[in-house]
Amino acid sequence: MKVIRYPATTDLSLKAWSAADEFLLEQVLDQNLSGKKIITYNDRFGYLNCQLHQNDALSVISYKSQEKSHKINRENNGLNFDDSRFINPLSSIDEKIDIALMKVPKSVNLFELYLAQIATCIKEEGVVYCSFMTRHFTKQLLSISNKYFEVVEQSLAKKKARVLILKKKKEVIDNELINKLTLSNKEILRQYYGVFSAKEIDQATQFFIDNLQIEENTKEVLDLAAGNGVLGHIIQKQLPNCKIHLIDDFYLAIESAKLNLKGENVCFHYNDTLKEIEENSIDLVVSNPPFHFEYETNIEISLSLFKDVTYCLKQGGKFQLVANRHLNYGPHLERIFNKVIRVVHNDKFEIYNCIK
Ligand SMILES: C[S@@+](CC[C@H](N)C(=O)[O-])C[C@H]1O[C@@H](n2cnc3c(N)ncnc32)[C@H](O)[C@@H]1O
Repeated sequence: MKVIRYPATTDLSLKAWSAADEFLLEQVLDQNLSGKKIITYNDRFGYLNCQLHQNDALSVISYKSQEKSHKINRENNGLNFDDSRFINPLSSIDEKIDIALMKVPKSVNLFELYLAQIATCIKEEGVVYCSFMTRHFTKQLLSISNKYFEVVEQSLAKKKARVLILKKKKEVIDNELINKLTLSNKEILRQYYGVFSAKEIDQATQFFIDNLQIEENTKEVLDLAAGNGVLGHIIQKQLPNCKIHLIDDFYLAIESAKLNLKGENVCFHYNDTLKEIEENSIDLVVSNPPFHFEYETNIEISLSLFKDVTYCLKQGGKFQLVANRHLNYGPHLERIFNKVIRVVHNDKFEIYNCIK
């Protein structure tokens, strides 16, 4: 079985699975899986999904790019797939599950949100296996596991990976898995567990808001990599009649943005590319673009999004973004846009205006 990454990367050190995924799979491959109902979490590129295709596992898909990756790998390996086996982390699950497999995500909040969903569908005698690289262990994994399960065991390490084995679910009541963030004007934004900047507004985002320049005649805006929609929200306050598009690859980000922005002129796009946006339609694109993906750092995805921005901006339209200075986006942006101005910076962040 060959499993590849989507989107592809030129960084050969980035793999489609790790020793933690292999160790997770090992937990179940020596069991009799016939008739067993399996659910997988954070199977980023579809490694588990392909290996367990005979069990028709339910895959909890949190990213549009993850969904695309699963489909590509299934297709490449000649495996049938049924879209209804893809569900999202907020879905209610009717099936009763024997085995849940999770590659532990970097965000402990997201780990909790996944466990909370598992607790709704796992059988009394069901088992949850959660794998991680030993260097990523934090004690919170144990305390959160103990909140949802009575038995929490830890395996020995293998190839620097470990597995937590959870049994006997507990009853957890009144469990709202939403964080609240207070803006400087005292407004409160809400976001599901696992969405970027859980406790307070990100420093780069705040620097961006403090320096945001919006022209009065702006009619259509795109908040690219929107997270909880904070940038779109601020723009909507200033220009209530403006049409605002918000895009994010993360399902829970878009669902959070829906909690924070209302109105007929708001469009939400759960996607990892700008293909849904009309060509030459946007006056202003704003972004605090991604460069961390779980434990990986990679600017290739942002650079590809920047190229897509030129497609959807009107001629003369503006792309305004904030970035960590060490990423040195300037030369990359100059290759893509007609005019690039670094408008303001401090010791950590810089803001660029790019004109098409
Ligand atoms: C640095 S956060 C910014 C979030 C929000 N704009 C803010 O300032 O708080 C970057 C966001 O990019 C999203 N993201 C990652 N890859 C993406 C892609 N290919 N397309 C769209 N969004 C993506 C992540 O899910 C994350 O929400």
